[in-house]
Amino acid sequence: MAGFPFLPLLLVALYASLAHAAPWPLHARHATHRVRQIGRGLEVKAFHPKSTFQTFGKGIDQPIPEGFANSLTPPAINDSAVTFMQAQLGVDAAHVGYRAGLSDGSRKFAYVKQVHDGVPFANAVANMAWKDGKVVAFGSSFVDINSISKIADSNPTLDVNSVIPTTEAALDGRFNDQPPTLEYLVNEDGSVALTHVFQIRNETAGTWFEAYVCAHTGQLLSVTDFVAHASYTVLPIQKQTFPAGQETLTDPQDLFASPFGWHSNGTDNTTETTGNNVAAFVGGRVSAETSAGLNFNVKYDDTKDPTAASNIQAATNNAFYIANTVHDFTYRYGFTEKTFNFQDSNFGKGGKEGDRVVVSVQDASGLNNANFATPPDGQSGVCRMFIWDFTDPRRDGSLENDIIVHEMTHGVTSRMTGGGTGRCLQTTEAGGMGEGWSDAMANWVSQKSAQVEDFVVGQYVTNKPAAGIRSHPYSTDPEVNPLRYSSVAQLNEVHNIGEVWANMLHNVYAVLVAERGFSTTALTNPDTTEGNVVFMHLFLDALLLQPCNPTFVDARDAWIQADENRYNGANKCTLFKAFASRGLGLNAGPDFVDNADVPAGC
Ligand SMILES: *[C@@H]1O[C@H](CO)[C@@H](O)[C@H](O)[C@H]1NC(C)=O
Ligand SMILES: *[C@@H]1O[C@H](CO)[C@@H](O)[C@H](O)[C@H]1NC(C)=O
Ligand SMILES: *[C@@H]1O[C@H](CO)[C@@H](O)[C@H](O)[C@H]1NC(C)=O
Ligand SMILES: *[C@@H]1O[C@H](CO)[C@@H](O)[C@H](O)[C@H]1NC(C)=O
Ligand SMILES: [Zn+2]
Repeated sequence: MAGFPFLPLLLVALYASLAHAAPWPLHARHATHRVRQIGRGLEVKAFHPKSTFQTFGKGIDQPIPEGFANSLTPPAINDSAVTFMQAQLGVDAAHVGYRAGLSDGSRKFAYVKQVHDGVPFANAVANMAWKDGKVVAFGSSFVDINSISKIADSNPTLDVNSVIPTTEAALDGRFNDQPPTLEYLVNEDGSVALTHVFQIRNETAGTWFEAYVCAHTGQLLSVTDFVAHASYTVLPIQKQTFPAGQETLTDPQDLFASPFGWHSNGTDNTTETTGNNVAAFVGGRVSAETSAGLNFNVKYDDTKDPTAASNIQAATNNAFYIANTVHDFTYRYGFTEKTFNFQDSNFGKGGKEGDRVVVSVQDASGLNNANFATPPDGQSGVCRMFIWDFTDPRRDGSLENDIIVHEMTHGVTSRMTGGGTGRCLQTTEAGGMGEGWSDAMANWVSQKSAQVEDFVVGQYVTNKPAAGIRSHPYSTDPEVNPLRYSSVAQLNEVHNIGEVWANMLHNVYAVLVAERGFSTTALTNPDTTEGNVVFMHLFLDALLLQPCNPTFVDARDAWIQADENRYNGANKCTLFKAFASRGLGLNAGPDFVDNADVPAGC
């Protein structure tokens, strides 16, 4: 037909790119490749031949399919599509397989795949669209069979059942009984392999792959990853302050704690720093993904003011990431829907919903601080993060993880003490311990090994690495931190009282880790027996046990009882000795007089 002025141009473009040995230019790798780390260190490179794509404005005519020239019924989508593709791609009907099509009012869409010897291609496909009967778009990743270096025989050497077990092991999951298919796969070097294609899924790990395994050699050649990935350029939670270095984390969400990820409540999805657990924003403006697929990849630059546009975004992203991470790991240790946590949807698992944490980054209501308001279960917790002006340029509290973790922990302790009312850490003593738990949690997440480090809160925002915002670093060394139970008698301010409690907990932590070792997977695996895991279990278990407005003595007793409940008292003496070493021994009264006693037999 005469109506195809674009045809020669298109074919020139297609064949020109196929003329080279490595037909897809190396500089375009983001468009054609995806390298994935899978399971235990396996790396799979998936190759997707580059698609050509043309759009035609108001549309172009297409040839009338064979046999329809004099027909009264218009051709169906499949016949129209196959006819068009044959002409466009210069192939005969045997090489075009119709896959799917749909009509939607005046619009129609069709999808085809390349075929050779009756076997369809997985990654050589084409699509087209019509509007009002005219072709308006055409895309293709078909390859030119004549210029292909090597195409595998279409009869498999290996039966699919013989390659499933090794693939299950490689991808750390199970074949899920979706019928396997036999498909050609175009490789990066231009050769074409024959592959068995089947699905491997692991519900526990939240992975779901489609594997392409060579039907002649059994080699795993490529994967399709059905799970959408999210990435965040942030300060990893184990890194306390900004100078430790931002990283881009892929899929940090824990699907056990957040089954629909961080940007969905199970029905509605977002592409911003809002989701089921947290909504983070600056001045009411959320941060949007920087590229499709939930990528939040703006770097913070602290040589600029926090209010530089990119810094606003990066700070919001970091606050969102940390607040969600605290949601997720505390969930693992027992701060769940039932125990009054913060979520928009509770997925039918108990508790009151509609109460995700709202994080106001660079909140205008203050400077050089941060705060967290905990209303009862069913109402959102509100975290306000401030800018700090001790330095020039100023610094943002949302780039100091210990500050965000501290604030988020207020929500945990205020909800878990006293049954979700938010009313039970109100006395000076209990409120003081509230500050202490918050520092202790920030301390816990930033410990990296069995070598327990002293811990300084607020060092980056104040630019005081050795002192930070408390009176002493947290330490097992009485010369570095001399605070004892009796110190509380002289203190009236909650943060000062909190330092005494946080330092006791630092000592408890240190002996548990000394005795039981350190787990590097404690944030996501609460089922091991190392000291840092035991510590976090007792931390959260004790909150549920203790009374409304607990005293130091009550809080200590709750730890002892938590240990009895969970570990049959295995750590009783260890705990008592650590508390007693700072004056909160067995016979400490409520009167802030040091006592060094431990129970008989300890
Ligand atoms: C299109 O679909 C019709 C009806 O199912 C079928 O008879 C015809 O062979 C199909 N044509 C192609 C090219 O697949
Ligand atoms: C699924 O992944 C978990 C780790 O998250 C692993 O322990 C388990 O063995 C995997 N299951 C299968 C069937 O491979
Ligand atoms: C929303 O996200 C969830 C989880 O990622 C996904 O299963 C679901 O299909 C998405 N829903 C919509 C409407 O995009
Ligand atoms: C999910 O979010 C949407 C949009 O905010 C809201 O309308 C819907 O009620 C939420 N669903 C649940 C179960 O919380
Ligand atoms: Zn606080």
